[in-house]
Amino acid sequence: MAAKLIKGTEIREVILEEITQEVKQIKEKHGMVPGLVTILVGENPASISYVTLKIQTAHRVGFKEVQDSQPVDISEKDLLALIDKYNKDDSIHGILVQLPLPKHIDEKKVLNAIDPDKDVDGFHPVNVGRLMIGGSEVKFPPCTPAGIQELIVRSGVETSGAEVVVVGRSNIVGKPIANMMLQKGPGANSTVTVVHTRTKDMAFHCKRADILIVAAGVPDLVKPEWIKPGACVIDVGVNRVGEKVSEKTGKKVAILKGDVDFEAAKEIAGYITPVPGGVGPMTITMLMRNTLRSLKFKLGLM
Ligand code: GUN
Repeated sequence: MAAKLIKGTEIREVILEEITQEVKQIKEKHGMVPGLVTILVGENPASISYVTLKIQTAHRVGFKEVQDSQPVDISEKDLLALIDKYNKDDSIHGILVQLPLPKHIDEKKVLNAIDPDKDVDGFHPVNVGRLMIGGSEVKFPPCTPAGIQELIVRSGVETSGAEVVVVGRSNIVGKPIANMMLQKGPGANSTVTVVHTRTKDMAFHCKRADILIVAAGVPDLVKPEWIKPGACVIDVGVNRVGEKVSEKTGKKVAILKGDVDFEAAKEIAGYITPVPGGVGPMTITMLMRNTLRSLKFKLGLM
């Protein structure tokens, strides 16, 4: 294997430890800890498992954690009232409404009701705008793109002047990471190209990439011949391609595949993220960092 493996599972541990230490120091000095509420509507099994992991991680780093589970038939009005309650609660610094929401609720309306200064997902239009402006305007970079940037920086990959090619133009990964990488500042200063389903020659662009970020949701979309030798390849894809029985638990688990043909790509790339264990573990880690940032903004520490 030529490529150095970028292990999100290891980088997560380092960052969570940094957050834990910072929470301890703030608690000693200011008598406050970050407060995070996770609002879960209904009983979608995938959402329950995400939320459980978020709660466990919040406890681990020393946050106050409020889990607010609501029935699947909660009205939009009641959900908006609940958000308003947490917007006004001084002990809560981050509000997360787990998506997707049931069909009778307007997701956009709900996300827009969250106080932008507690929007630790970074999905509110105000925070999307702040991200676009960049620099000190940025409050809450969205979690998956923030995790990608951390993986690149902490692996020692040079971003300044690098050709970054982003595959995919979603609002939660493609567009924000493209925007973040072209900003002025450390971990950015890149020349960015975004390719998507209407791009005429995706391979042509990918072959130029010093850093290739793939968030398309198509298993094995990126072929090894699309990768420039020595490039840094970040695979954001999490595609369920089947099921297997876990050796550890004896239970059925999903077989996951990324958007990049990993086995072939790792012989060409200089750095590569595995799936699972690459980008995935970083998303919740960045949610914790954003919640800590929220308290720090409030205390005037940022
Ligand atoms: N559902 C799946 N991923 C996410 C996420 O990052 N944030 C929220 N709020 N819901 C999600």
